[in-house]
Amino acid sequence: MRAYRLESRETPPVLRDLPVPSPARGEALVRIAACGLNFADLLMIEGKYQDIPPLPFTLGLELAGTIEALGPQTEARGLMPGTRVAVYAGQGGLAEWGTFPVDRCVPIPAAMTFAEAAAFQIAYGTSHVALDHRARLQPGERLLVLGAAGGVGLTAVEIGHRMGATVIAVARGPEKLAVARAAGADHLIDSDSLAPGGLRDAVKALGGADVVYDPVGGEQFTEALRATNPDGRILAMGFASGTVPPIPANHLLVKNISVIGVYWGGYLKFRPEVLTRSMATLFDWYADGGLKPHVSAILPLDRVAEGLELLRTRKATGKVVISPAE
Ligand SMILES: NC(=O)c1ccc[n+]([C@@H]2O[C@H](COP(=O)([O-])OP(=O)(O)OC[C@H]3O[C@@H](n4cnc5c(N)ncnc54)[C@H](OP(=O)(O)O)[C@@H]3O)[C@@H](O)[C@H]2O)c1
Repeated sequence: MRAYRLESRETPPVLRDLPVPSPARGEALVRIAACGLNFADLLMIEGKYQDIPPLPFTLGLELAGTIEALGPQTEARGLMPGTRVAVYAGQGGLAEWGTFPVDRCVPIPAAMTFAEAAAFQIAYGTSHVALDHRARLQPGERLLVLGAAGGVGLTAVEIGHRMGATVIAVARGPEKLAVARAAGADHLIDSDSLAPGGLRDAVKALGGADVVYDPVGGEQFTEALRATNPDGRILAMGFASGTVPPIPANHLLVKNISVIGVYWGGYLKFRPEVLTRSMATLFDWYADGGLKPHVSAILPLDRVAEGLELLRTRKATGKVVISPAE
């Protein structure tokens, strides 16, 4: 089978031929139909991610496919050959087959395509845990979403809208803003058209932000902080700009503002029930037609580098998915 492997820090990942693995006890063999790409893949390749498996390993954090076999004496928990599942594995998704712990295999709703399922867990899970569990977003609050047409940003727009917030979306250019509008944004700010300080002024002109969702960092974080209302919460989601912003604690004190760190994958280790509960809610929302995963490109396994380049050059909207079966 083919697998997209990171073998050393000095060389780019390569597509290798490997034997199809056999599931050990507690594992399922999954025929992979789709794998969602994430900004974290870029960070892993650059050696900058917080959770990098030992080299060499197969890239691909999240995937969807069909269970083909279970390991010996494996407690099946309702899973069987033929079950369609989504898997957050942290590695191994960019391949034709993979073996994964059964407790990471989540059956997917019947109406969900494999591409949607592979695009679902990290993007929706992260935004739901951030807005609901961490920030306690309330109906009627003003939610400012930075990077609002990206993988996690777009789901924050959609979930914020669903939770009854007024959503202010910030993204680069009219095409990305149109995608954010379709996901439920009430107000649009084109970051390309702003002078320094312009983001702060534009958000203030709309009434300021009660909650900020920030996967970008850098200058946008600093300007968003200045446009945050008293009692506001700022969700530090990531640093796609490449700059971790300094946080002036005196501003937090004077305006009663909280900066809240969020790492979705971290909950897997210390409170997995938070994620299980969140995913059940999200699958319900999907089933009632309330969530529409936005996949802007589906590419075959031999074009992963092209998919990653779409993320690196900020050309993707929503998610980019690799389909190893093609
Ligand atoms: N905390 C968590 O649990 C968690 C989970 C998933 C992701 N994240 C983090 O969230 C961030 C976004 O991840 P993603 O998978 O959604 O990525 P993505 O799809 O590539 O979206 C990133 C967005 O950031 C904006 N951006 C601003 N400056 C950028 C730059 N210099 N390079 C690239 N993008 C830039 C882009 O929007 P514009 O072009 O419109 O500005 C882009 O749409 C990453 O830092 C990732 O590590 C965190």
